[in-house]
Amino acid sequence: QDHIDEGARVAERVERRWATLSVAIIIVLAGAAAFSGIHQATMPQARVETIQPQTLHLTGEFIKGNLGSAVEPDGSVTVRAVGQQYSFTPQCMVVPTNTPVVFRATSPDVVHGFLIQNTNINTMLVPGYVSEIPAKFSRTGEYLMPCQEYCGVGHEGMWAKVKVVD
Ligand code: CUA
Repeated sequence: QDHIDEGARVAERVERRWATLSVAIIIVLAGAAAFSGIHQATMPQARVETIQPQTLHLTGEFIKGNLGSAVEPDGSVTVRAVGQQYSFTPQCMVVPTNTPVVFRATSPDVVHGFLIQNTNINTMLVPGYVSEIPAKFSRTGEYLMPCQEYCGVGHEGMWAKVKVVD
């Protein structure tokens, strides 16, 4: 009788240990999942900049007088642009060579593409958000900027250019 009891007790202890271990594994996995989830959710959002697409042209950074290139106090250049059905404003963006450039652009209507040919710059202009793209051009010349997101009947004719000058 004692032997049977002892055996049952050992079995129970072993079983409990395994149960504890699997609970611990589940907690660790859940923790890792939650951590990576939070990581993925917060990292891009920290850099998201929102803007009212309906009032872009009336107030704030993207009113007509602010569009185009502006030299910052540190010598870098900010280029502000708007992509709308079916054009970019300004149509020609002039930037200097060997200077840090930041493109800041958005859309008042639908999603447009912001792609500068022969560079690695390729992003989207999404209504409600500001797209910010750093760049630096080492050579003078012209770069075409065709809209590369289908945005309606005039999509094929929507393009601009970047002119790099010394
Ligand atoms: Cu704008 Cu396609």
